[in-house]
Formats: sequence, structure tokens, C-alpha cells
Amino acid sequence: MQWGMKNRLSRIISPKTGKCVMLAVDHGYFQGPTTGLRELGKTVNPLLPYADALMITRGALRNWIPPETDKPIILRMSGGTSILKELSNEVLTSSVTDAIRINASAITCSVFIGGEHEKETIANLAELVDKGEKYGIPVLAVTAVGKDMARDSRYLGLASRICVEIGAHIIKTYYCDNFKEVVEACGNVPVVIAGGKKIEEKEALQMARDAIDAGAIGVDMGRNIFQSSNPIGMIKAVRAVVHEGKSVDEGFGIYKEKK
Ligand code: R5P
Repeated sequence: MQWGMKNRLSRIISPKTGKCVMLAVDHGYFQGPTTGLRELGKTVNPLLPYADALMITRGALRNWIPPETDKPIILRMSGGTSILKELSNEVLTSSVTDAIRINASAITCSVFIGGEHEKETIANLAELVDKGEKYGIPVLAVTAVGKDMARDSRYLGLASRICVEIGAHIIKTYYCDNFKEVVEACGNVPVVIAGGKKIEEKEALQMARDAIDAGAIGVDMGRNIFQSSNPIGMIKAVRAVVHEGKSVDEGFGIYKEKK
């Protein structure tokens, strides 16, 4: 792996623990003003000190995040559809030149395996990998799930492995039963989990714990942090579980402490 690629990856995945807590706030690209992100800067900026990286669109970044931030940016580069339409109908919505201009540490797009536009979304990933390899920028592939897709290890393993085969450097997928099989399907490519819809804090911490225990290197979590009644307590708790190997109860204690 080339130096620039390694350097960017080590800004996201801690060389000390081998783990990472990414904060995902890119939801607006298809959901519009998502609960908790209407005033994105007010929600996100206080959380930044506790995140290892920020997953965001270029528009949100330029509007709400101060350029003085030292947090690595994972730039959401696919979109072109909304919750009102077929979600898999994505194109690349930013250029790699712009990713370089904003000093992105990684670039990302969604891949909809089984979706109506599966092929185009795989082609989007392939294009990002080609450009990422050229400029030393790692690519995070998101295994997006359509409305009727089963979120089981067979499906998520299939989707994640396809992203590995296309050349992604990090896989973001959903937690499921037998998650170890999904991680194993990815070989040496690191896996992080999305948080999904807001659930109880203890449940979300349990999911993070179980994912790490099954071999994931971290989380790329959004709603379960920024929609929590105590977002700072929650991200600190997630950090403790991911980086320090804390138990769910210990993490939950941290969450409650700061409430
Ligand atoms: C969805 O495709 C978005 O990219 C989000 O970044 C992703 O779903 C993670 O956020 P959450 O933890 O809210 O699911």
C-alpha cells in the first residue's frame, strides 16, 4: 500500500488500538433535514472532539464545519436520489478533485446489491477505487440495504464481499446475527458497522460490543449518537466500548454519567 493511502487510513483507524469511531452525518443527501441534523453545525461540532472521523457531504462540510477542524473527513460522494424515489439510482455527485480540495482522508459511496441499479452502484465504487488508488485516498464502501432486503449474514456477506472484490479499503455494513461470517467474507479488509435507526442507548452499545467481538474494527454511527438525548455521553460511551474494550454496562454508565 502506498504511503499516502497508509497515512490517510492511519488518521481514521487509530494505530494505537486498531479501532475507530466514525461519526456519520451524511443522511441529508437523500433524507433532507434529518432529525438532529437540521442545524447540523450545532449538533455535530460539539461531538467532533470525540469522533475519529466525520462522514459528511461536501455541501454540509462547507456550510457547517469550520475548516480549522483537525478531524479526518470521509467524503460522501454518491447520491442523486431521494427517499421519494428508488434509492439505488445513484451517481457520483462529487469529483475526486473536489475531495482533494477539501482534504478528504477517505471517499465513500453506497453499493446497492440486489437493488434495481445494482450494476451502476458497483460501477460507482469501481470508479472511486480507481481514482482513490491513483491519488492515495482510501475508499469506504457502504453496503446499502433496499426496503425489502433481508439484513442477514448471507446477504450482508454477499454485499460486503462484492465491495472487497471491487477494491474497497474499508467496508461499512449493518450488524446481524452470525456477524463473524460477514467479517470473514471481507478477508483483511476492515469492517465497520452503521448504527441504523435510533434504538435504546444500551441496545446500541450492545450492538457495538457484539460487532467488535465478532471482528469489526469500529462503527460509523449516526442517529444512535446524534439523536440520543445525551449525544456527548453516547459518543463517549461508544468510544469506551470500541477503543477500550469496555462492557455494555460500563459504557452505559459513561452515557448516564454525563446526562
Ligand atoms: C446511510 O447510507 C448513511 O450513509 C449513513 O451514514 C449511515 O446509515 C450511518 O448512519 P446511521 O448510524 O444513522 O445508520
